[in-house]
Amino acid sequence: MSEMILIVDFGSQYTQLIARRVRELNVYCEIHPFNHLPSLDSLEAQVKGVILSGSPCSVKDEDAPHIDLQAYLGKLPVLGICYGAQLIAEKHGGEVLPSRIREYGRAKLSKIDTHKDLLKELTQDTQVWMSHGDTINSVPESLEVIAKTPTVAVAAFKIKGQDSYGIQFHPEVTHSVEGKTVLRNFVVHICKCAQDWTPDIFVETTVASLQQEIGNDKVVLGLSGGVDSSVAAMLLHKAIGKNLHCIFVDNGLLRKNEFQDVLASYEDMGLNVSGVDAHEQFYQALAGISDPEEKRKAIGRVFIEVFDAEAHKIKEVKWLGQGTIYPDVIESVSVKGPSATIKSHHNVGGLPEKMHLKVIEPLKTLFKDEVREVGKTLEIPQNILQRHPFPGPGLAIRILGDITEKKVRILQEVDHIFISKLKEENLYNDVWQAGVILLPIQSVGVMGDERTYEGVVSLRAVTSVDGMTADWCHLPYEFLSDVSNEIINNVKGVNRVVYDISSKPPATIEWE
Ligand code: XMP
Repeated sequence: MSEMILIVDFGSQYTQLIARRVRELNVYCEIHPFNHLPSLDSLEAQVKGVILSGSPCSVKDEDAPHIDLQAYLGKLPVLGICYGAQLIAEKHGGEVLPSRIREYGRAKLSKIDTHKDLLKELTQDTQVWMSHGDTINSVPESLEVIAKTPTVAVAAFKIKGQDSYGIQFHPEVTHSVEGKTVLRNFVVHICKCAQDWTPDIFVETTVASLQQEIGNDKVVLGLSGGVDSSVAAMLLHKAIGKNLHCIFVDNGLLRKNEFQDVLASYEDMGLNVSGVDAHEQFYQALAGISDPEEKRKAIGRVFIEVFDAEAHKIKEVKWLGQGTIYPDVIESVSVKGPSATIKSHHNVGGLPEKMHLKVIEPLKTLFKDEVREVGKTLEIPQNILQRHPFPGPGLAIRILGDITEKKVRILQEVDHIFISKLKEENLYNDVWQAGVILLPIQSVGVMGDERTYEGVVSLRAVTSVDGMTADWCHLPYEFLSDVSNEIINNVKGVNRVVYDISSKPPATIEWE
């Protein structure tokens, strides 16, 4: 990897968005929290510029986050955004005060000095997005004001004689209509990044570095059928071929036919994969358990046992491959510490320790959509790349109450009808995640001349970007009606279908 932009995170909700925007320009960047900054020399790539993020704090707070700005200013181009800009202004002797009114929302950028590289090609009065409680009231001689708004005296400034800037608006959000131009000006024209970070280059450089790191060692990797583990496997396969041993476990909680279908796809992709049917072990461990976290623990425990036993059949494995992606990495070292709002996706936490293996994570610098792009470059089939997310504990957390083989079978049938219909009606790709929940109640119905007392299922389909927030999908009534009829007419044991219209928050996507 040749070059990158370093993003210093002061805890803003928008920091990841800055990284996404920079990467959309085909420039690699990394986010590091202000209190765990690496030295420039220790980074593998050459740092071409630094972006200082916003923050929920005020520079006036006693415990406001600070960094040694002199490590960067004058040596590299720096762009301070919001809090980052206020920090630069204050350190230079500027006046930062609480705004009289909290400046939040759309504003028009005026008196733009388009001769300055950062603001080149911007339209006068272009709309920008503001979100700050403090404002830079005045700047000293060493800084030059290069844009204002009707209420903000210093919307943008340049440090004289340097390629460093501060802006009080957020170029990374789409409400800043020409925000992308500002970021492009900084990254491409000021930092002179080559814009050569593409999925092809990522594959090429990652494969080379995996080969160097792993050499002739063997790697074992657990496949789940999901995008991340599949792409991680293909990258490793490209790097080390048959020395990659994949294990795909059937826990009996997958979708209908999923195990056989996905295993066949993996074999077609040339992967060295063993499929392990362990459904009885999982059902035994789950018998009588109704508590969701207990279910997760039992499944995690059995998975480790099964995986470990299978991995021991391979002689002299040194590495465990994992499909960890960048948001998990950022989350685990974030300014605030790991967030409590996200359910852990590491259902198999503890696996590396138990197996005494070194961990290799080829996707740990990528966001989810970038993983899909890399997957396309690797020619992974669409049916795997476009697959909805599916939780590690599978149908176990979609069967409320205890798990029996019979309930799994009913849910698999119902889920199969819903998902197949979404695909048939070309709705599958408009939905971020869909599934069905089997409720722990029975309801009265009537079929022919008889009253029935049978199961109730809830359809769930959401739109989302990353699963952190979600809205229920407004699927057409006719479609829902068709799905309901088909389920009730074909699946014995179900006589009522409902549709979940809750958003997240306050609900969650899964019911457990
Ligand atoms: P919630 O229900 O928290 O789900 O809104 C957010 C996303 O996470 C998935 N999920 C899990 N994935 N193990 C997983 O691997 C789990 O225990 C788990 N719980 C929830 C869920 O399917 C959704 O995509």
